[in-house]
Amino acid sequence: MILRLNADGLEERFPFLRFACVKLVKMDNLVARELNTHLEVQRRIDAAGSQLRVPRLLAHVRRRESEEAGIILERLEADAHNGSLQTFVEGLRRGTPTRVLRLTSETAADIVSAFNQFHRLGFIHHDVNDGNVFLANATHRDVVLPAAYGRQRPTVRLVNRADIVLLDFERTIGFPQENAASYSKEIEAENEEVRAMLKEVELEVSADDADRDVAEAYDEMLRRRIENDRRASKIA
Ligand SMILES: Nc1ncnc2c1ncn2[C@@H]1O[C@H](COP(=O)(O)OP(=O)(O)O)[C@@H](O)[C@H]1O
Ligand SMILES: [Mg+2]
Repeated sequence: MILRLNADGLEERFPFLRFACVKLVKMDNLVARELNTHLEVQRRIDAAGSQLRVPRLLAHVRRRESEEAGIILERLEADAHNGSLQTFVEGLRRGTPTRVLRLTSETAADIVSAFNQFHRLGFIHHDVNDGNVFLANATHRDVVLPAAYGRQRPTVRLVNRADIVLLDFERTIGFPQENAASYSKEIEAENEEVRAMLKEVELEVSADDADRDVAEAYDEMLRRRIENDRRASKIA
């Protein structure tokens, strides 16, 4: 769970908290693991001069009698242009089911590339989900589709580009970079999970494609989905 610290006036007393957030972790061995892994991730990123982004780990707090420990992280901006993929998807769905979030092929490729870099540094994330992928500085545009797609006109919010930040190293394992070959099966399995996650949200269009191309790609995606559902129900 992530706590934002602006609730009880703490921010006024400790201005640095404006730039921090606390992740509470149950006080079992996961804390030590997440802390150590996060530090190791940062260390390898720095050593390799990698472009991969993760929130910087600022500090951690433990209270002797407490069941929980806090991991203090650089706080990533959360607004219309910054948020986890999950918050983007759910934020749009809430209220109007006809608004959907889709990623351009560029954004999807950048997410794939972030996980590839992670693997190359010698890590397997082990918790691929849309809550653990943060899109920073996202640029997007809304494309209103023709009414033919249903009674209401759906709107596709297309994330053109974003800086990808990987989150949540609770289950991450690290291995020596030179051992990558012996982890190739696990890496391939994780790549498959990344592809499965993106399949839900990617639209095969480019940031500078025309609205008409976006509408066509969306149509094609729906058609394929209906086709797959039909095939699946035949098999069942
Ligand atoms: N450094 C951060 N700055 C801002 N928001 C964050 C940060 N880290 C995580 N979050 C938000 O909190 C959510 C949960 O964080 P995460 O580390 O994935 O914890 P959990 O173990 O609860 O899944 C993320 O999906 C994201 O929306
Ligand atoms: Mg998470």
